[in-house]
Amino acid sequence: MINLETIRKDFPFLERSIDGRRVIYLDSANTSQKPNQVIDAMSAFMRDAYAPINRSAYRMAAAATDAYEGARAKIATFVNAPSADEVVFSRNATEALNLFAQGWSRARLSPGDAVVLTHMEHHANVVPWQMMAAERGIELRWIPLTDDGHLDLTDLDRLLDGAKVLSFTAMSNVLGTLNPVRLLCDAAHQAGAIAMVDACQSVPHSVTDVVAMGADLCAFSAHKMLGPSGIGALWGRSEILEALPPLLGGGNMIDDVRLDRFTCAPVPAKFEAGTPAIVEAIGFGAAIDYLSSIGMAEIRRHEMDLTRYALDSLTERFGSDITIHGPANVEERGGVISFAFRDLHPHDVSQVLDEKNVCVRAGHHCAKPLMRQMGANATVRASMYLYNDRSDVDALCEGLAGANDIFGF
Ligand code: ALA
Repeated sequence: MINLETIRKDFPFLERSIDGRRVIYLDSANTSQKPNQVIDAMSAFMRDAYAPINRSAYRMAAAATDAYEGARAKIATFVNAPSADEVVFSRNATEALNLFAQGWSRARLSPGDAVVLTHMEHHANVVPWQMMAAERGIELRWIPLTDDGHLDLTDLDRLLDGAKVLSFTAMSNVLGTLNPVRLLCDAAHQAGAIAMVDACQSVPHSVTDVVAMGADLCAFSAHKMLGPSGIGALWGRSEILEALPPLLGGGNMIDDVRLDRFTCAPVPAKFEAGTPAIVEAIGFGAAIDYLSSIGMAEIRRHEMDLTRYALDSLTERFGSDITIHGPANVEERGGVISFAFRDLHPHDVSQVLDEKNVCVRAGHHCAKPLMRQMGANATVRASMYLYNDRSDVDALCEGLAGANDIFGF
């Protein structure tokens, strides 16, 4: 069982109050709060152990390199990657997705080759492919949605026919939908396509096993999983990473440089040009230690309970005044609840909630194509994590009741 009282004490942000009232943080799909364990690990490293990695021979530098590589090993274990060398540090999931989309398109795709995406991708898994469609003449195909917010897989075989890549989200950041990752990866392979999984919404909230997923590549960000911003990871099968060209050139990513040419360092250094986010890697590792100490299965169970409570509370209290998007069954969704409240603009709703210190995101959630499919410009989105409890959901309901009063319903 998750001990909420202990966990909440670990997060200084959750101890904060504004105008004498505590802050209720329901925006973790956007970015998560940080526990003291992460903050302390980063500041201790900066204070006592900061040194360059991979380029100086003195002991402090060797220890810093070990700490950086230790973080990589923790990430590999966390997602069950067969080897830490298959984990590439990136700036965030967006950069990881760009690294693959741009590199693979330029090196391996020809005009007319098809890449399959879905209507529920956020911009990070749309725009890089659109850029490559324009540059390389790649054809983009789209898996549509069902009315209840799942992927409509009726035409999957036709869409994948002859495709070179299927790139899709494991969990929608707007609808909360959990996609059938294994089925999609298997279908991609059956068609001879590579399966790239954008897992930035799923890795923070559930057990991840890249081998069991059947994926070829998987991208995620530290900042959504209790770690710092500025660092993420791309896991990829070694054959694919070997064949993928680097996005950035510079120090650390080379084996040799002459005036007329260079050769690349082995994977993963090939993708990590320049001094990387060393301190952030330490924080990423500490975040993984923290999540692992609680257990990802426990975190998922807690979030399912809380999501069920939130869905029930919102519908019981507000009935037809609230429209909640995405699957109704908590087995099929994560702790992300997007909704429309009466005919109020989501920004107005979020402002009223903010006056009660309830932090939610309102807007298009960096998923404009999906919003268009949903026929909405924007939604209000409450998103939960291991540190949220029922009182946070109650505060959201109270805040919405307050919006009713303010707008005179
Ligand atoms: N960080 C973005 C979100 O809020 C994509 O879901």
